[in-house]
Amino acid sequence: MKVFVTGGAGYIGSHTLVQLLAAGHEVCVFDNYCNSSPAALARVRQLTNRDLTAIDGDIRDADALTRALADFAPDAVIHFAGLKAVGESNAMPLAYYQTNVTGTMNLLAAMDAAECRRIVFSSSATVYGEARYLPFDEDHPVAPTNPYGRTKAMAEGVIADWATATPAASAVLLRYFNPVGAHESGRIGEDPQGIPNNLMPFVAQVAVGRRDKLAIFGDDYETRDGTGERDYIHVVDLAAAHLAAIGYAARAEGCQAINVGTGQGITVKELVAAYERACGHPIAYEVAPRRPGDVASSYAATDKAERLLQWRTALDVDAMCASSWRWQSENPDGYPGGAED
Ligand code: NAD
Ligand code: UD1
Repeated sequence: MKVFVTGGAGYIGSHTLVQLLAAGHEVCVFDNYCNSSPAALARVRQLTNRDLTAIDGDIRDADALTRALADFAPDAVIHFAGLKAVGESNAMPLAYYQTNVTGTMNLLAAMDAAECRRIVFSSSATVYGEARYLPFDEDHPVAPTNPYGRTKAMAEGVIADWATATPAASAVLLRYFNPVGAHESGRIGEDPQGIPNNLMPFVAQVAVGRRDKLAIFGDDYETRDGTGERDYIHVVDLAAAHLAAIGYAARAEGCQAINVGTGQGITVKELVAAYERACGHPIAYEVAPRRPGDVASSYAATDKAERLLQWRTALDVDAMCASSWRWQSENPDGYPGGAED
């Protein structure tokens, strides 16, 4: 298949490219590198020994997207490009709506012009908001609690309406839980700019000595050990879900929202203990107040993914931490500057 990948140089995109290329798909990446590096694409080429086309472009630029899709004429699109920091979305909501919502509308219009009818979209479990029950299934009400989550819910709605209005269209809205880990080679991984917002990259930077200690945000939740519980999913499993989703989109019409998680909750303290096993030394931490907006527990119902995509996770928390540690310890400062490596 010819697959057009927006945001392909990013964390989840780069891991998905490895599997797309290994499976023999032809790939065109469209990315403005605002939160990534062309070095990731160089490493994907090295890892797979295959080439891909890369366009330096912005999804807010409708003309550039239209030209790129017309030239490449894809069979399917995987749409990773977006802004993803909750705190930043509170401070600059319009930038989030422009990139995540307008960018998605530009992409669908460009797909129409190029007669491409299949899209797999990076959505998030954050669209569910406060849990009314657990595990979250896909019928749980969508009620996001921050601008980032609202952009994802809106983009889902735009894509669903497009799929309804477009003959033979197929859309898969993948609602990721908490992606972590790295490719087993240690050559590609998550490379956050500044202070990491999320737990696993913070723990990784403490483990490698870039930060002194982790702050555990609250140990008085109603969970096994009082710390927050999340459904961490290995990014390699998540990448495989995208290949399953483009296969599904090729055989089914309509629009489906599908959770992508393991179905298992892991607490902050359990994750820290797993990371200590992986890196071989203790991770310093202190207990700090709860982070505003955090929930006690979040984990996925996974039966819809198993049923429609014939996909389920294979990698456990030890594999998540071991791969993260390999990436972090071999690339303590993330990707090098410059396009090649
Ligand atoms: P990432 O920031 O590593 O990747 C996003 C990519 O999109 C980057 O390469 C960035 O340069 C590119 N991009 C951003 N704005 C762009 C624009 N205007 N034009 C072109 N390219 C642009 O993030 P990621 O973790 O790989 O996430 C990928 C997608 O998955 C995002 O849409 C994100 O919202 C979603 N998601 C991520 C998580 C997570 O925890 N990582 C969870 C749920 C959903
Ligand atoms: C975050 C995002 C959410 C996104 C999800 C998946 C926020 C508020 N929410 O949620 O929109 O969909 O990631 O990527 O950013 N923790 C600490 N110390 C830290 C960091 C985190 O104790 O330094 C705890 C948190 O309180 C939580 C758990 O670790 O219990 C996981 O946190 P995080 O990695 O930020 O993920 P989410 O809270 O699920």
